[in-house]
Amino acid sequence: MTGRFITLEGGDGVGKTTQAAMLETWLTEHGRAVVRTREPGGTDLGLRIREIVLHERGHVSPRAEALLYAADRAHHVETVVRPAVARGDVVLQDRYIDSSVAYQGVGRSLGAEQIRSVSDWAADDLTPDLTILLDLDVTVGRARVAAARGYTFDRLESEAAAFHETVRQAFLEMARVEPDRFLVVDAAAPAEDVQRSIRTAVARLIGIAAA
Ligand code: TYD
Repeated sequence: MTGRFITLEGGDGVGKTTQAAMLETWLTEHGRAVVRTREPGGTDLGLRIREIVLHERGHVSPRAEALLYAADRAHHVETVVRPAVARGDVVLQDRYIDSSVAYQGVGRSLGAEQIRSVSDWAADDLTPDLTILLDLDVTVGRARVAAARGYTFDRLESEAAAFHETVRQAFLEMARVEPDRFLVVDAAAPAEDVQRSIRTAVARLIGIAAA
């Protein structure tokens, strides 16, 4: 079977984890081997980087932040993602290069093109076959995270609402520029409806009948 690399993107609280879990169940039922993973933190090394980048107290230089995500990615792509795709598995990944472009490139004003270029280098140019962008009003997303976590936000989540709105618009702009790679789904819809749209696109990519 042909391996595939599918990424899920969007702000915090849009439901990426829930949708990835539902998609994994469905793909497994259709006989596909699935690897579910995430950035940052998809490897042991990445978990240590994740701890620094999300929970370091005090100021972290934006460029250092960008390079920590890139370091996590370099190791993850080489040791987890590429081998899985080469085996013929379907990789379902929570966040990838588009997150770096949206959060560090645009949100932190480091420059979308520069961050994409650093990230592409880190990933040795591995591009997703499909990117699912779950789009949701920022206030609704933050309320979901707060409810799920009991109001403790990590470093990125603690940024002001304006930062998250900038990030949301950056994702939408990427989807506009690369319509063939992106599927944009309204994440305010019920989870089952969101999942139906995702399965239709994934079925087309993978060549199985949609549920
Ligand atoms: P995520 O794992 O989705 O958060 P959680 O498990 O807490 O829901 O992502 C962690 C944070 O890292 C999220 O706020 C977005 C941010 N992030 C970046 O800023 N740049 C990146 O390249 C990536 C992958 C994530």
